[in-house]
Amino acid sequence: MGINRAAKISIDLAALQHNFQQVKKYLPNSKIMPVIKANAYGHGMLQVARSLADADGFAVAQLAEAIFLREQGIEKPISVFQGFLNQAQLQLSIQYHLRPAISQLWQLDLLQAEQQNTPLDIWLKINTGMGRLGIQADDVDHCYQRLEKISYIKQSGLMMHFANADNPQNASNQQQIDCFQAILNKNKTTTSVSNSGAIISHLFEQQDWARPGIMLYGSSPIPGQSAQSLNLKPVMCLQAELIAVNQLKKGQHVGYGATWTCPEDMPVGIVNIGYADGYPRHAPTDTPLAVNGQLTRLTGRVSMDSVAVDLRGINAQCGDRVELWGKQVSVDEVASCAGTISYELLCNSGNSAII
Ligand SMILES: Cc1ncc(COP(=O)(O)O)c(C=O)c1O
Repeated sequence: MGINRAAKISIDLAALQHNFQQVKKYLPNSKIMPVIKANAYGHGMLQVARSLADADGFAVAQLAEAIFLREQGIEKPISVFQGFLNQAQLQLSIQYHLRPAISQLWQLDLLQAEQQNTPLDIWLKINTGMGRLGIQADDVDHCYQRLEKISYIKQSGLMMHFANADNPQNASNQQQIDCFQAILNKNKTTTSVSNSGAIISHLFEQQDWARPGIMLYGSSPIPGQSAQSLNLKPVMCLQAELIAVNQLKKGQHVGYGATWTCPEDMPVGIVNIGYADGYPRHAPTDTPLAVNGQLTRLTGRVSMDSVAVDLRGINAQCGDRVELWGKQVSVDEVASCAGTISYELLCNSGNSAII
């Protein structure tokens, strides 16, 4: 049994589907595997998978996420970015018809050690410049030679991930493309390259499978370009309730550290959401939010279970609905105020809504 805290998450599946159709417009000839790892960035992995009926497959980070989807009846291809970490996990990957990404040479050793008749498709994930998980470009030929000898492996596609897709002007993007293209020229196979930033910036058009994440959830992957300008609709709405309206005097402080002082006699509201609910503690005074549909701002520090808001000029009373982000308040704007990215806010709040 879980304890529901006061903060409420609502998910607009029609907006999710709308955003998926935007992805299709960018890459009409590619298959799309929505990235639904980390509980679909906090949006609920299963409901997202079920509602994206036009998706060609899905991508998750870890094996357990993929097995969960299979056990809940998701039958489409599922790619697993971290692949398998040992022989037992390889066997589960095969048993559940998953498509693991191979990014380490020792994973090839495990593939070779396995005696199997059941076919397996894999991705060879190449380090073209991300420097995270990936086979070094120099090792790829050797990997393909080894893979060809493993009879149960049917398809070994090539996958890469951009380090700077959020900055289309960054020279490293072209360097990564050149590195990937050189490997592809020698090994003609299926490809998967683009995340949201790369899709929107048209960094790499010809690919079999694209891997959008954040744009599906209605947030912009490119700083300076709003989600609205990209015709992306917010999917998550994070709400709480006004639980106090305090009439404070000029000079009175608000919150831990007394970081904010009332410049005049004024109403300050208290909202029952805090960093325990995934609202960012680093959101400073002036971070936007909406009380009963009226835009206002945070004052003072975010507490564990509450935040304070400036209610000057706002028609507000206890019980009013407060939107922390959603249709009125952009999660991108809140993230930028808090010095982080929407990904973190969506994951943290979505995954801490129910305990
Ligand atoms: C390998 C890989 N591909 C695609 C994505 C999706 O990225 P985005 O959410 O920026 O579209 C991610 C997300 O982190 C990833 O790790």
